[in-house]
Amino acid sequence: MRRALIAGNWKMNLDRAGAISLAKGVAEQAREVDHADLAVIPPSVYVDAVASVLQGSNVAWGVQNVYWKPNGAFTGEISVAMAKDLGCRYVVIGHSERRHILGESDEDVNNKVHAVIDGGLVPIICVGETLEEREKERTLVVVERQTLAALAGVSADKARGVVLAYEPVWAIGTGKNATPAQAEEVHVALRKVLAGRYNREIAEAIRIQYGGSVKPDNARELLSQPNIDGALVGGASLKVDQFLGIVAGLSR
Ligand code: 13P
Repeated sequence: MRRALIAGNWKMNLDRAGAISLAKGVAEQAREVDHADLAVIPPSVYVDAVASVLQGSNVAWGVQNVYWKPNGAFTGEISVAMAKDLGCRYVVIGHSERRHILGESDEDVNNKVHAVIDGGLVPIICVGETLEEREKERTLVVVERQTLAALAGVSADKARGVVLAYEPVWAIGTGKNATPAQAEEVHVALRKVLAGRYNREIAEAIRIQYGGSVKPDNARELLSQPNIDGALVGGASLKVDQFLGIVAGLSR
């Protein structure tokens, strides 16, 4: 069975003291957790401080974005090597806020996926449809396109270690989660896309997280779906009790 990954995307929230204190709370309460992998994804400027707190705990950490070039004149960007230097394990790639607010294309996402994998880190590749696309019944077409574009040129061997996150745009930060059945339907479709692109064995190995208004009170049902292998949590990851409440909803 795929071991669940519960990751908290802190987005552009908190200050330094708040980030440290949240990391301390999560590390402390996560001590007894042995049935899931946990990670937090702070704003990159606080990763160093958070890493010092999480060192030796069972909570991993990551960054919310990277640029694909190794170094150079790319003002405002950070490289995979920099993320690695900070002990990151995960890099969120192609989050809907980056695609829709900051104009990231499928091609950018693909370049970043290659850079992250080649740098030895794990990309959490986000895909998801807008409300308009869902209403036009284009959900499966959109997530298939985004997934195949993200993995263009990625070998089967390298694909094995990636994480995919299905995050319907209309469910992010809205308090309106996809129902377990809606999410499972897309996860099954994504698993098929992966099996077609690679093979069944690799499709089964890749974790597919759900993200979009995951809270303690809906986590248990979402995470009990056979193809939902974890959660990418936004708002609820900013509160220790809520984040750990989601983890508690996982069956052991
Ligand atoms: P919310 O949990 O706040 O809806 O955010 C989800 C998300 O975008 C995680 O990456």
